[in-house]
Amino acid sequence: MRVGMLTGGGDCPGLNAVIRAAVRKGILHHKDEFIGFLEGWRGVLDDRTMPLDLETTSGILHRGGTILRSSRTNVRKIEGGLDRCMEVIAKQRLDALIAMGGDDTQSISLALSERGVKCVGVPKTIDNDLSGTDACFGFDTAVSIATEAVDRLHSTTEAHNRVMVVEVMGRDAGWIALTSGVAGGADVILVPERPIEIEEVCRLIRYRRDHGKSFSIVVVAEGAKMPEHAGQTSVGTATDSFGHVRLSGIGQILAEEIEKRTGFETRSVNLGHTQRGGTPTAYDRMLATRYGLAAIDLVHAGRFGRLVVLRGTEISDIPIADAIAKTRTVSEGLLSMIEDLQPVRGG
Ligand code: F6P
Repeated sequence: MRVGMLTGGGDCPGLNAVIRAAVRKGILHHKDEFIGFLEGWRGVLDDRTMPLDLETTSGILHRGGTILRSSRTNVRKIEGGLDRCMEVIAKQRLDALIAMGGDDTQSISLALSERGVKCVGVPKTIDNDLSGTDACFGFDTAVSIATEAVDRLHSTTEAHNRVMVVEVMGRDAGWIALTSGVAGGADVILVPERPIEIEEVCRLIRYRRDHGKSFSIVVVAEGAKMPEHAGQTSVGTATDSFGHVRLSGIGQILAEEIEKRTGFETRSVNLGHTQRGGTPTAYDRMLATRYGLAAIDLVHAGRFGRLVVLRGTEISDIPIADAIAKTRTVSEGLLSMIEDLQPVRGG
């Protein structure tokens, strides 16, 4: 078979491991031929490709980013975009297309599937918020980086008796904030699932000071909202082609409010894209490799319009439509860990 591959949306450690695994199994077991479209759906529109074979996918398992590069190109926003993709896919004589991406990328896979293109999806987002799968590769790496940052910030925060606010990624879901916050022993963890109550945040910080601790660490997800500062946590008002604003700034706003209300010297650090950079963890390489192998298996089973997913410990697959229907936010059960580790309200 002749198979196309692409990586769309924000990059994610583990993408190269998916590409390598699918290409290796496809070539070694099925004598497939592969091409990679460059820069996500933009590469399909422009018919820009690179060869994917045993040589070009060798030595990439441990590398972050994506050898195919990526973009947030929304084909449906471009006049005739879907038709152009269909033409290029036909011209390239593709029997199947494997698209690695989150809900935005997969919404294009779905639109093309509905027009008869044989698409298979691989879930990808460090935010870990795609429905239908228990995990996306890249999340574990992001959490490791964020946790190491929280660990490192402890000593400098303690040395100055400060409050340190650490802003992590997570547009609609607080998976990274919750996990790195719990693993890093943060005093306060704030997530998009719940509005920030600034007086409660200050109470928790004061409680720590009253009980013998001279510093505090706050972990906040970039998408967490403080009602008093609605609309101030994005960079400008411009949106990307899928309608998302660029989030940033909740950490600094929070730091200023905490200092103003408590009098404790406060700093903020925004970990930003460091969380997406560099080498994937062993867990992410393993999960990404399993997804790559499962994707090529789906292609050869003729099961198109489907997304490979992790259910418990097993790889499975679901309709792409189900995965993008809604965001997978952190469950109430997991969120209750935050309160379980904090002094009770009014206590
Ligand atoms: O796609 C996930 C994500 O990492 C979000 O957490 C973040 O808001 C966004 O991407 C940043 O995107 P960009 O790389 O386009 O700035």
